[in-house]
Order: sequence, then C-alpha cells, then structure tokens
Amino acid sequence: MVKVAASVLDADFQKWREWLPKLSKADRIQFDIMDKKFVPNKGLDKKRISELRPKTKLFFESHLMVEKPEQHIEEFAGLGNQLLIFHIEATDKPLAIIEQIEEHGMKAGIAINNQTEAKTIFPYLDKVDLALVMSVQAGFGGQKFNSLALDKIHALRKKIDSGELDCEIEVDGGINLETAGQCVEAGVDVLVAGTGIFRNPKGIEKAIEELKKL
Ligand code: DX5
Repeated sequence: MVKVAASVLDADFQKWREWLPKLSKADRIQFDIMDKKFVPNKGLDKKRISELRPKTKLFFESHLMVEKPEQHIEEFAGLGNQLLIFHIEATDKPLAIIEQIEEHGMKAGIAINNQTEAKTIFPYLDKVDLALVMSVQAGFGGQKFNSLALDKIHALRKKIDSGELDCEIEVDGGINLETAGQCVEAGVDVLVAGTGIFRNPKGIEKAIEELKKL
C-alpha cells in the first residue's frame, strides 16, 4: 500500500487542533524548510516541528530546500524530526551530508528538483533511506504536476529493485488522486500532498483515505 506524507507548508498553524487529528490516517508529516536562496520562498519555521512533536505519533520528515544543507542538520536532530531530505543540487558533497544526517540520529533522504535527471542520484541510492522526486519546481505548494517525474520514478524503481536496495521513492508536488495514480503505477512508495489534502473538497480524511487506496 502506498504511503502518504501530508505536507503542512500551507496549513494554518493557528488551527492545528482542527487539522492535526484529521491527519491520523496519514503515514507522515512533511515540513518544507526554505532559505529564500535555494528557492524564492520562506517555507515553514522549524519551530513548527517541535510544536507538533508532542501532539502526534506520526513520523516526521523535513524537506530542506536550502543552500549549504550541512549547516542546517544539527538543529533538526533535537526537534523530533526523523528523516531529513536535502537536494543534490545544493551540494557537491552528498556523501558527507548523508553521513552527518545519520550521525545526528536521523534517516537520510536525497531530492532531485524538476530539472535534474534521476541518474544524478543513482550513486547514492545505497546510502539513503529515501529518494525524493520533485514533480514541481521546489518552493511553492499548489503548482501543476510535471509528468517528467513519472520517467524518473520509473528509472529509480528499476535501479532500486535491480540492486535490491532499501530506499523508498517519494514524489512531491501537484499530487492529487489522478497524478498519484500515475506515480503509483510508475513505482512510487510515498506520496507527498499539501493542496491535494488540505484543500480537498471532500475533506482531509477522505483525501488521505483515497490516496492510500491507490
Ligand atoms: C513545494 C513543496 C511541496 C508543497 C506541497 O516545494 O515541497 O511539498 O508543499 O505541494 P502541493 O500543494 O502541490 O501538494
């Protein structure tokens, strides 16, 4: 069964008491962290992680859309974040960053943005727990799904399966019932959705339920 990570980038944190209980059927919460340099947006304040930590048992992952990710790792370890994802485009020393993330007791994920080919992260798939394929240009919620992501998911699926690697494939951006179905067919393990969950006319719980059934 496919896993669902609820992206809370555009959630109203004043109303967390309303939506957090409704995320119970999700598998994870994803926090989008941005530095206004790697992407032109400010993203979430990392304090949201420690705020929510005591209020839910859900798995926490953080998506670093920042330059110099190595400078951010330590501050995430103490917040209750369990998986830290960095962008391959933001570093020329991915192995050192993966090691640093794991030294701080977190699982490591590596992300590729819209313009980056899947093979760019092939050399690291045996070192990380997750490979994130962006299906929009990182930085903003509510964008349209870019179907180029499907070929990347398929290529990663083949590489991971042929090497019997223990690495999840995650997709993020423009995920709704239709695009999610295409991603599941291509071999994705985890769907990240923000708008598709929080702005779903059927409501948060139904949105998650429908995605998980794919
Ligand atoms: C964009 C973020 C996405 C976003 C969710 O850079 O990484 O996770 O919050 O996107 P939508 O709203 O398209 O699901």
